[in-house]
Amino acid sequence: MTENRIPLAGVIGHPIAHSRSPKVHGHWLKTYGLAGHYIPMDVAPEDLEQVLRTLPKAGFVGANVTVPHKEAALRIADTVTEQASRIGAANTLTFASDGTIRADNTDGYGFMENLRSGAPDWNPKDGPAVIFGAGGAARAVIAALIEAGVPEILLTNRTRARAEQLQQEFGDTITVVDWVQAGNVVEDAELVVNTTSLGMVGQPELRVPLDGLQPGAVVTDLVYTPLQTRLLREAEEAGCIAVDGLGMLLHQAVPGFESWFGKRPDVDDATRAAALA
Ligand code: ATR
Repeated sequence: MTENRIPLAGVIGHPIAHSRSPKVHGHWLKTYGLAGHYIPMDVAPEDLEQVLRTLPKAGFVGANVTVPHKEAALRIADTVTEQASRIGAANTLTFASDGTIRADNTDGYGFMENLRSGAPDWNPKDGPAVIFGAGGAARAVIAALIEAGVPEILLTNRTRARAEQLQQEFGDTITVVDWVQAGNVVEDAELVVNTTSLGMVGQPELRVPLDGLQPGAVVTDLVYTPLQTRLLREAEEAGCIAVDGLGMLLHQAVPGFESWFGKRPDVDDATRAAALA
């Protein structure tokens, strides 16, 4: 990139129209009065590599990647952070001035920061976490919780084999629990996480009995449309701390914004409002 160009970044997905990232980054650029643009880019999988190689030449300093490109972007990248490598997927790319691509994954960071701000008294070391789901999102959550020192993860998934695969990869911290039995282990948890798409608009709700949970236990849902899922509503009714998933989306965006535009942005009520607008 030549000097004095306005830095460009964006989010690459297929489709991309639903992405809230342009609203979030656009809000921060405006709030901090920074020169820069952040745009949505709909790129078909077969075009991803060529697009990624071209963007730095067109003034792009980086990009977020989302479904279905997170794994492919990791393979294309020239360097890969430990987090991205552990998760097996990238969500944040930074382009060096020579066009080389560095792949990072900030989903686990976003997950932990969301809990730190929504449940400041929760300590991952205090007790077991129960995780519903074993897809890409679960991977990021598991890697982050293990790194933070969680003593045990009870992992359950409709397709048990996917949970067993993660148990093999991440090791003994994980115990796989049968999907139909999962309700029985929830009461031991300090943290309950929904990483499945259940509860999302148009999907059935995730139904988990939460009445046995210790008051003060934390329940979080990665689903953020709607913001308040049945799981979170019932968590509140049971006296637990309910943390919605929007904050994870906002916090995962912070490291990318900082590296591309040079300012570490705050995640506050105005950021939430901008994402929801
Ligand atoms: P993501 O990257 O968002 O995690 P994914 O890899 O497609 O997306 O994973 C989706 C998760 O939601 C999986 O755990 C999936 O369970 P399966 O592995 O059994 O498919 C879970 N999921 C989606 N629809 C579900 C449903 N109707 N009931 C139970 N689990 C469901």
